[in-house]
Amino acid sequence: MSIDRLEELRNLKKKVKLGGGEKSIEKQHAKGKLTARERIEKLMDEGSFIEVDTFVEHRCTNFGMEKKKTSGEGVVTGYGTVDGRLVYVFAQDFTVIGGSLGEMHAAKITKVQEMAMKVGAPIIGINDSGGARIQEGVDALSGYGDIFFNNTIASGVIPQISVIMGPCAGGAVYSPALTDFIFMVDNISKMFITGPQVIKTVTGEEVSAEELGGAMTHNSTSGVAHFVDNSEEETIEKIKLLLSFLPSNNLEDAPIFDSQDEINRIDEKLNEIVPDNPNRPYDIKDIIYTLADGGEFLEVQPYYAQNIVTGFIRLNGRSVGIVANQPKVLAGCLDINASDKAARFIRTCDSFNIPLLTLVDVPGFLPGTGQEYGGIIRHGAKMLYAYSEATVPKVTVILRKAYGGAYIAMCSRHLKADLVLAWPTSEIAVMGPEGAANIIFRKEIKNADDAVQMRGKKIKEYRDTIANPYIAASRGYVDDVIEPQLTRPRIISAFDMLSSKREDRPAKKHGNLPL
Ligand code: HXC
Repeated sequence: MSIDRLEELRNLKKKVKLGGGEKSIEKQHAKGKLTARERIEKLMDEGSFIEVDTFVEHRCTNFGMEKKKTSGEGVVTGYGTVDGRLVYVFAQDFTVIGGSLGEMHAAKITKVQEMAMKVGAPIIGINDSGGARIQEGVDALSGYGDIFFNNTIASGVIPQISVIMGPCAGGAVYSPALTDFIFMVDNISKMFITGPQVIKTVTGEEVSAEELGGAMTHNSTSGVAHFVDNSEEETIEKIKLLLSFLPSNNLEDAPIFDSQDEINRIDEKLNEIVPDNPNRPYDIKDIIYTLADGGEFLEVQPYYAQNIVTGFIRLNGRSVGIVANQPKVLAGCLDINASDKAARFIRTCDSFNIPLLTLVDVPGFLPGTGQEYGGIIRHGAKMLYAYSEATVPKVTVILRKAYGGAYIAMCSRHLKADLVLAWPTSEIAVMGPEGAANIIFRKEIKNADDAVQMRGKKIKEYRDTIANPYIAASRGYVDDVIEPQLTRPRIISAFDMLSSKREDRPAKKHGNLPL
């Protein structure tokens, strides 16, 4: 082959790699953002990234587009490895027509989506785009539609991770929304269906882009996103950590790591952690850190619906998904947002063969018209559905309160938990002693000379009689009442015993999850 041909190839690739050119790259850096290629380089193992569709170009001729070259079509796509495991990636290149998405840009994305599905490897999409390429009209919209369809088909087959590292506006937000996890970077990411200007025109509201669709808005208020970090570098490290907890696809198990932590580690601290006074709060995360290998816990949605805690730990090196009530926030009540958060997390774990550990300290569903009008019935049902549907190993530990419908919802035996353990501090009942006494001893309290004293007496009587773990244990709803300090060895042994669990459900097209 003549040297000219090789030179031509090298020059063409060099040009594409410059994206929108030096000036646009400088502009990108000035905003505190990396370029698409720099992001991929940091994400993938060194030298492992293989680009595909380097030479794809648009074929739009509207509005002078025929004269506009789009190096790489505004998106870099390909595959490589992260910590030695195959991963597919697409990263929108804002330096090329604002990373806007046209027909061929979309075709590059759908190609890697389909490859990832075929081989069973996770796909990571880095979004940094002005949205649908306006010049391309319906061809751009069609491209989005194809991506959304693939997102849906890939759901529950391969992990799909979306990273927002710039604007992601209009219908474009629906690709991330269809994926399993959304990462945002503080002050850099923006997601909204309609931007501040449209909102001002239509509703008169004035809101900044950050307030409307910044990272904290979607991490704490809307619940759209799962993670927020301060920089793109920190975000990329967090993505790698998340991947370490996930299998490559739904037919595999998550990787098993060598645990440096003792399986039989007994922690006396656990005997003291739950206060004797049932109304006193404590931090459930102290328990989670104590149980986890090396005290490591990757919390998912840490800023949203903080009355429930979700995330990943390892137990004897195996990935486990945690769902735990947080007595420190709203006394750990279940509400609309907590139900949505937990249900989504449970389904993510079940899709990807990650066993579930549920820690229960729940006084009930949150009362109030706001909750009822907002559809707590419909939202709470999602949790019941998600736990019932889940066939991964399910281990539940009741720590303290387990009342009413919330007791059932928190992966009780009745929703087919495989093993239910309870601490001696557990109170399993239809409702809390205060509420129960008011109803069933109403007459005695009303007729007593000293109503307050009588009420106190009846509350104690109720608690001593009903609100303990032994009645549930005598029915076999609780498999064992254990010393808190033995929890780690007992749950490791339970998940070990359950590691070959197989459970089928009747064949159906799909269930009808209450939405
Ligand atoms: C074509 C676009 C574009 C778009 C940006 N550009 N968005 N070109 N279609 N959607 C171009 C700009 O013209 C500019 O080109 C270059 O990209 C960089 O953009 P700037 O505006 O200079 O960058 P910045 O100041 O950082 O502003 C970024 C921005 C702004 C906030 C994203 O560009 C913007 O508002 N864009 C339009 C956003 C939008 O309304 N998109 C449609 C959303 S609706 P030059 O040549 O000047 O460098 C949608 C529907 C999807 O996406 C439906 C799916 C179902």
